[in-house]
Amino acid sequence: MPQQLAISRAARLLGVSRAALQKRIKEGGLHSFDGTITSEELLQLYPDLQLEDSGLFERTQKIKQDAFRRRVMDRTLPAKEVLAERLYEQSLELNDIKHHLQNYHTLVVGLQDKIHELGGSQPEARSALVQLDEWLEHELRHVLGEDKKPDTLDVIDAMLRVMSAHVTLHPSGRDFFVEGNDTLLEAALKAGLALNYGCSSGNCGLCKARVISGQVMKTRHFDYVLSEPEKQQGYTLMCCHTAVSDVTLEALEASSASDIPKQQISAKVKAVTQLSQNMMLLHLQTPRSHRLRFLAGQSVTLGHVEAGSGEFPIASCPCNDRDLQFHIQRGVGGSFSEKVWNGLKTGETITVYGPWGDYLFREESQNGVMFIAFDRGYATIKSLLEHSMARESAEDMILVWSASTPDGHYMSNLCRAMEDALENFHYLPVSVAGLESEDAAASQVIDALLEAYPKARQLDIYLAGPENQIAPAREKLLAAGFPNNKLTAMVV
Ligand code: FES
Repeated sequence: MPQQLAISRAARLLGVSRAALQKRIKEGGLHSFDGTITSEELLQLYPDLQLEDSGLFERTQKIKQDAFRRRVMDRTLPAKEVLAERLYEQSLELNDIKHHLQNYHTLVVGLQDKIHELGGSQPEARSALVQLDEWLEHELRHVLGEDKKPDTLDVIDAMLRVMSAHVTLHPSGRDFFVEGNDTLLEAALKAGLALNYGCSSGNCGLCKARVISGQVMKTRHFDYVLSEPEKQQGYTLMCCHTAVSDVTLEALEASSASDIPKQQISAKVKAVTQLSQNMMLLHLQTPRSHRLRFLAGQSVTLGHVEAGSGEFPIASCPCNDRDLQFHIQRGVGGSFSEKVWNGLKTGETITVYGPWGDYLFREESQNGVMFIAFDRGYATIKSLLEHSMARESAEDMILVWSASTPDGHYMSNLCRAMEDALENFHYLPVSVAGLESEDAAASQVIDALLEAYPKARQLDIYLAGPENQIAPAREKLLAAGFPNNKLTAMVV
């Protein structure tokens, strides 16, 4: 009987994004029932699928090659206790299957004996029974003697189950995989999910979730004490446990910006790097036990003891809540910006307060998403883009970046590298340097994107940039027939 696979698991088996499979389903090239696909259909669609095609196989080969390089082992494989538990679980399953097979074999042999017995004692049924016996003999020879190649999908799936565990969240139905030494919380954040949490280190209890099914294992020490009723109901701390088997968790997720509390954190400057003549990258790192919980597209207030404070959009993904990046434009952001440009040192303390902004990425943007960045608006867009990539929910992601200065596309290399690496990501840089007005610039950007992507009106559009560029762009998009309910404008 063909195996039913969840879409996310099937995508991992094939080494493609979930959005790519969803696109196939929507186009009618693949049937799905209740969010699952049969392994038979997958093999029909990808008949040449081999272990070698899977990123997992390459990773496994790499592990073999680097067998004695602990660093790689540690990064890729789960802890040996988790690995042992997963292998044990799989052995139980295999043992069960083996017992069933032995029982079926005994049954078939017994049936053969019965046929021989009946055939001898009742001559009138002899002919039919002889035929049945011959058929059974032929089928048994076929089944037992056939040199069957292993089902590639089953083999990869079995390997995946050892290397990672699949977690489904209740009630949202969202899912993610836990790999390596990640805790449940780390894996969920990497997958772009906005779960409820606080300290990330077992002290606050905010990451409490109830295990509905499956097995979890403690991998980190925690001081928070779960009450007896909580333990009996199956509650666990996601920041200190990992998944041993496939798991279903009842967990709280943020559904709007108001679900994210305001936080104040003392972070350290990790690096200050000039990106262009007028743009500086500020990289902050929070303490391990006090990270920033935020949503893609939000801003924070950054403060320095001597240089005052200013509000800046976060240019990194919420999936990395410790390493926060900001693009600080020369002359924008008051005295704090001046400090960054005039000698902020690695190791200095910066107060991070926030987050601000109620922009929320529309998870249901399955048709595709277009991000339009105006100059420094790229910082906000970068955060949204990285989040969208982590979620793997959009079929196509298009980045249009309008720059009003000759070196305004200050991260073009990164955008081009992403375009080369990702099948469903497209990058369109537009230069509006030298145009006399924001109106003219907005027209040029919209003409360029419509020429390159005539179906852009069907996409969800996110715009970010200074007010004087966003306002005319929004007006022109509406005038060009873009639906208002698909436009999200973020002023930075
Ligand atoms: S986030 Fe604080 S205990 Fe897990």
